[in-house]
This record gives sequence, structure tokens and C-alpha cells, in this order.
Amino acid sequence: MNKQQVRKQIFAGNWKMYTTKREAVELAIGIASGMNIIDREVVLFPPSVYATCVVDACEGTPVKVGLQNMFYEKEGAYTGELSPRMLKDVGAGYVLVGHSERRHIFGETDELIHKKVISAIAFDIIPVLCVGELLEERELGKSESTVESQLIKAFAEIGEQGARKAVIAYEPVWAIGTGKVATPEIAESMHTFIRNTLKKLYNDSVAMTIPVLYGGSVKPDNIAGLYAMPNIDGVLVGGASLTVQSFLDIINVTL
Ligand code: PGA
Repeated sequence: MNKQQVRKQIFAGNWKMYTTKREAVELAIGIASGMNIIDREVVLFPPSVYATCVVDACEGTPVKVGLQNMFYEKEGAYTGELSPRMLKDVGAGYVLVGHSERRHIFGETDELIHKKVISAIAFDIIPVLCVGELLEERELGKSESTVESQLIKAFAEIGEQGARKAVIAYEPVWAIGTGKVATPEIAESMHTFIRNTLKKLYNDSVAMTIPVLYGGSVKPDNIAGLYAMPNIDGVLVGGASLTVQSFLDIINVTL
């Protein structure tokens, strides 16, 4: 069986802190009307203030919407935060958790990330758990141990049924926004390692079910090599998801 028959294939665009409201809506409409492949899920992660407009723009299309972050409590006195209930309320079915910019710029810890994963699963929101090593860690030969530790901490106490709802994005920090994409071989080897770690934490069936996306300088000219790899189940794209044509060239890639 090929990977499309075994796991959901996901092509996601993380718009970070970019776009105006109008640009966000135009981007969503352009992407929704230009995607021509049905064996994969396309998910847009707009800035939260534009979530409702983007959900409306995607209505009646297969394009899904997620948010880039959330807090883990259902509600409360947490100024500036968004709750899982709010995400559900506006129609966001996915959330990015533990993106490297959250970990490294905003100091999110493995413990916080763990709570967010649990909360997303409890609220039936698909967490896209981002993991990945820094350049120093790769140079010291610690890529696998770093990612293993991030996975163990994020999935602690999460049972098999919960784990099956998660998506993982392997995003080496040295590749994010740098133009230095991981080679398909490096990415595939880390994805295989992630699948083996899931096998150890759970079992074969869970490891085969969870989609593992690659992220970090994915562009129209490198997507084909990456997506040809058997354990790369799609991509999480930053910069190249901000223009309709470049994102369409990525999501419409053929195997
Ligand atoms: P990039 O970002 O594609 O601009 O490298 C990827 C990400 O941060 O998810």
C-alpha cells in the first residue's frame, strides 16, 4: 500500500504574522479555486484575527483552516490568549503546537506544549505538533535525541486513541525561513526515526497512522524530491504559502 492509502496527506500553509485581511481572503480564495488534487488535505493557518474571514472564504471548498497557536484552558482570565473552545467556535479544525518560533522566541516549554496537545485532542482539534533540532544540535549529532525527547514529552500520558488524532511536523530549525531545505534523504531519515519512536511509544498501527509532515524552506522547486519520499506525508510551508501560485505549485505536486 502506498502512503496515501495509509495516512492522510496534508499540505499546510503557515502564514505566520503576515498578510492583511484582504490579502488573507484573496489568498484563501485563490488557493481553494486552484487546487486540483483530491488525495490530500490543504490546511491554511492564517493570523488568528483573520480566522473567521478565511473560514468564510473557504466555505464550500475542501480547504481547512487552523490557527497558529492556542492556550490549553477552556476559558479564563488569560489576557491575550485564545482557547480551544474559541477555535472550535470559529471553525478551526487544526492548531500548530510547539512551532520553533513559539519554542525559541516565546520560550514555550515541552511541558506547555504537552498541555496544549492534550487540550487540542480533548476539544477534537487536530494538533500539528512541530518538532526539530537546532543547527548546533545537528552538528553535535543530537538531531535524533532532540526530536525523540520532544516527542516523548509531548505525548506523555496521551493514550493510543488520543495519539491517533495528532499530526507531527518535522521542522529542522536550521531550515525554517533560511532557504536551506533539508535534503529529501535527511528529511526521510528523520521521518523514519519519528515513526520508529512512535512505534516504541505506542505500536506499529499508531506509527503508521500518524501523518508526519516536513517543514523548512519548502518551495515549488524542491517539493517533488521531498514528497517522493515514502515517509513524508505532506509539508508545512511558511514563506512559499504566501503567494497563490507558489503554494499551488506545491500542493498540486504529482508523485
Ligand atoms: P518556511 O517556514 O517555509 O518559511 O521555512 C516553515 C515554517 O515555519 O513552518
